[in-house]
Amino acid sequence: MPVWFDVRAEATKYAVIGELDVLATRASAMRDGLVLADDYFAGQLSAQGLSAIVLNATEASKSFDAIGDVIVRMRQAGATRDTHLWAIGGGAIQDVAGFVASIYMRGISWTYVPTTLLGMVDSCIGGKSSINIGAYKNIVGTFHPPSDVLIDPLLTASLSTEQRVAGLVEAAKICYCRSAETFDSYLALSPQTKWAPNDIEPIIGMSLRSKQWFIEIDEFDRAERLLLNLGHTFGHALEGASGYRLSHGIAVGIGVLCALELSRNLLKTPLGGAAPRLDLHMRELLRMVPALPAMLREVEVPIALDRLKADKKHESSHYRLITFDEAGCVRLTRLPKAATAEAAISTALRDTLESFS
Ligand SMILES: NC(=O)c1ccc[n+]([C@@H]2O[C@H](COP(=O)([O-])OP(=O)(O)OC[C@H]3O[C@@H](n4cnc5c(N)ncnc54)[C@H](O)[C@@H]3O)[C@@H](O)[C@H]2O)c1
Ligand SMILES: [Zn+2]
Repeated sequence: MPVWFDVRAEATKYAVIGELDVLATRASAMRDGLVLADDYFAGQLSAQGLSAIVLNATEASKSFDAIGDVIVRMRQAGATRDTHLWAIGGGAIQDVAGFVASIYMRGISWTYVPTTLLGMVDSCIGGKSSINIGAYKNIVGTFHPPSDVLIDPLLTASLSTEQRVAGLVEAAKICYCRSAETFDSYLALSPQTKWAPNDIEPIIGMSLRSKQWFIEIDEFDRAERLLLNLGHTFGHALEGASGYRLSHGIAVGIGVLCALELSRNLLKTPLGGAAPRLDLHMRELLRMVPALPAMLREVEVPIALDRLKADKKHESSHYRLITFDEAGCVRLTRLPKAATAEAAISTALRDTLESFS
């Protein structure tokens, strides 16, 4: 597989490279550095003679306590400021690795090998890391892009349906935010959860190319890139309110539906453009997630609302949400922090959750 493209970040330029069997082909380079991996890969890595710091891919691992422990283990393994870190895992491991790489001895270089579809279609580019503090999800973080990103679609073979849906939700969201035409090109690929690794590659390419546009024009989240938060303010609130039983990508899918519902209610009109196709596609994907209606029944709307109100993206006087205009285009909406806005948000949450029961 050829190099796909370079991402131009302010501090550096990094390559996104497609590489089959990457854990085998890069084993000797990994041996020269230090590996931080999802414990799902512990057996495979040790079978290749690679020692690694392994971590559970959970929200608890994205905490200061867990990160302090990783840093101690890195030091014990002899890591210096010249050590190159290899991160192998999904978005949770990426968040930890990106954060640790940005602060260990004031910053070391790293390579990211995403192993989930969500990691491959979305989080692997953009250079962000996000860490949880207490109940606040992704409240601290840094921008520290990797030196390169190695994408191996063969790693998707072991992903569950739910993990595949999570990745497709983020890919659909990114393509939709890029343009209605991009979203229709995405739909034309007929995304499937049963796809073999080879079939997944075009979606990865389309999603990353679309995200590349946002991060090159607005690396630090000041304008255009904010639109990619579509579904995320609702999604993070739902993840938290479910006690993290809802995974990130699945919660974002529900969050996109909440944003559609809120927009229809605020505008008092059905949405045009590609919005109805986005609604339908998200529902088709989410229907494939086993036990989702049962998980959603356990989410308490007032708790989700409290979590949403505490989201870091709001201003002191206004809630900030990504919504849709009448033509179905995404935009940043500011709602005054008052009972009217909170009632509208709460209604969108409740009606969306009930639509799955
Ligand atoms: N930094 C960013 O830009 C960014 C963007 C989006 C999401 N995130 C974060 O990423 C996290 C979600 O990441 P995710 O959905 O990629 O999953 P994850 O890293 O949370 O892992 C989910 C599960 O998949 C397993 N897994 C990983 N690779 C596998 C494989 N190839 N086969 C089988 N199982 C595998 C893991 O062991 C884990 O049990 C959230 O914490 C979210 O906040 C970060
Ligand atoms: Zn996301």
